[in-house]
Amino acid sequence: MTPADVQDRVTEIARRRGFFWPSFEIYGGLSGFYTYGDLGTKLKRNVENAWRESFVRRQGFLELETPIINASRVFEASGHLDHFKEYMVECARCGLVFRADHIVEEETGLENLEAIGLDGFAKFLREGEVRCPGCGGEFKEPIMILTMFQTSIGATGGEVGYARPETAQGMFLNFRRGFQNAREKLPFALAQVGKVLRNEISPRRGLLRVREFTIMELELFFDPQQPSCPFFKEVSDEEITLLTEETMAKGERTPLELTLQEAVEGGHIQTEWQAYFMGVSKRFISHLGVPARRQRFRAHLPEERSHYSAQTFDHEVRLESWGWIEVAGHAYRTDYDLKAHQQGAGVDMSALRPDGTRVVPHVVEPSFGLDRLVHVALESSYRRKKKRSILALPRSIAPISVSVLPLVTKDGLPEKAAEVHKLLLEAGLVAAYDDSGSIGRRYARADEIGTPVAVTIDYDTLEDETVTLRDRDSWSQVRQGTRNLPGLLRRLFKGEIGFSDLGDPI
Ligand code: GAP
Repeated sequence: MTPADVQDRVTEIARRRGFFWPSFEIYGGLSGFYTYGDLGTKLKRNVENAWRESFVRRQGFLELETPIINASRVFEASGHLDHFKEYMVECARCGLVFRADHIVEEETGLENLEAIGLDGFAKFLREGEVRCPGCGGEFKEPIMILTMFQTSIGATGGEVGYARPETAQGMFLNFRRGFQNAREKLPFALAQVGKVLRNEISPRRGLLRVREFTIMELELFFDPQQPSCPFFKEVSDEEITLLTEETMAKGERTPLELTLQEAVEGGHIQTEWQAYFMGVSKRFISHLGVPARRQRFRAHLPEERSHYSAQTFDHEVRLESWGWIEVAGHAYRTDYDLKAHQQGAGVDMSALRPDGTRVVPHVVEPSFGLDRLVHVALESSYRRKKKRSILALPRSIAPISVSVLPLVTKDGLPEKAAEVHKLLLEAGLVAAYDDSGSIGRRYARADEIGTPVAVTIDYDTLEDETVTLRDRDSWSQVRQGTRNLPGLLRRLFKGEIGFSDLGDPI
């Protein structure tokens, strides 16, 4: 199976089984917009909850929900109206448009070219090294365009607004209220999950680059005079693969393998807080089914960094289909944003220290694209077994936990299966009932959408109230009494027991 096959197969399953599909299908579609069906919505929510568990609940951080449309004053102050731009090129012959860095990277095999700037792209294009992949034509001069969606607010449209391209500004605008809610003590964090919009020049690769997506962000506010992170010990021994700024600057691609403790001590990561979130990030992505060998952190060079950042690491995952792709950005935003709004709004954004002095807090930010993670989880879980497609999704994020199947649709088995289905629903499990087609086909259908356990009701169930439980990954089976199912399955999905603990092997 080639890498392209994996992408095609996962996309085909996603459309046919109702994970997601291109939006506005009946009007011919519009690139960069996707609609999630039932399974996709559930999977996405489970990934979001896993993120919340890793980054918010355990640390007692605070959540926020702020508007998608913002007044233009916000993005003037934050610097987005000046900087949230991409390089665009247009084919002089057929009019196709591309992101300049992407097209040059694809055609030359070079990487991370964003930093070379307009002149650099113009040189590549002028020297004729890169031509339109659509028609072979030459490109016009590259230009920079703002990739934020603009709108007008109110009936008379007097006020210009922009759709937010990140939720982070919501946290900065509401810093003072958040600080009050955090009992006026640093450090504290505000987290937000919400929709953002970016008018991407050439959205592609399915969910990986879209125009409307969900972002999961956290802004950790700390005093730069008290930079230590009280949670750092929990992850300091975690080994990471790190492409440092020095390595990148030399144009090399051999990463360091080191612990987070070593990365901080060696000066590769500037703040403990950032190192802490990188450790949590690695564990979170592993939890979604991506092994450590397919993960790395890549430092941005200064020219590549966003206008607000003093140090940024992309958390990257290696996919069969597209190679290394960024799933999260870990940025040290310093006091850039709070100071920008302090100046823009004329409002004090400082915090009082215990010694009576004041400080504008510094910020460390982990930022994840949720839709990219849905793609990563699906592609990483894709397996072939005996000519069947299986999504070996981690149990905790599988959209359906259990499928309940009567062996045949007669002799009272559907009625008994409906009883068991109800029992599992009432126990809080996400259980589905399926009685169409042969039992083999129903197992295959459940495997294809990643349902970890199938419960089969057969003639013995009518006699002794026991059922067969089948494991999606090993296809092994055990037998258990129906009344024990809720407790045992709940423990299985919490990760307290394994499949073989569910009953007697058959
Ligand atoms: N507040 C920081 C920020 O917005 P970013 O690197 O621009 O940082 C964060 O975006 C994450 O959002 C990325 O790591 C990626 O996972 C996701 N992302 C960015 N652009 C995207 C797009 N067009 N479609 C889907 N996900 C995207």
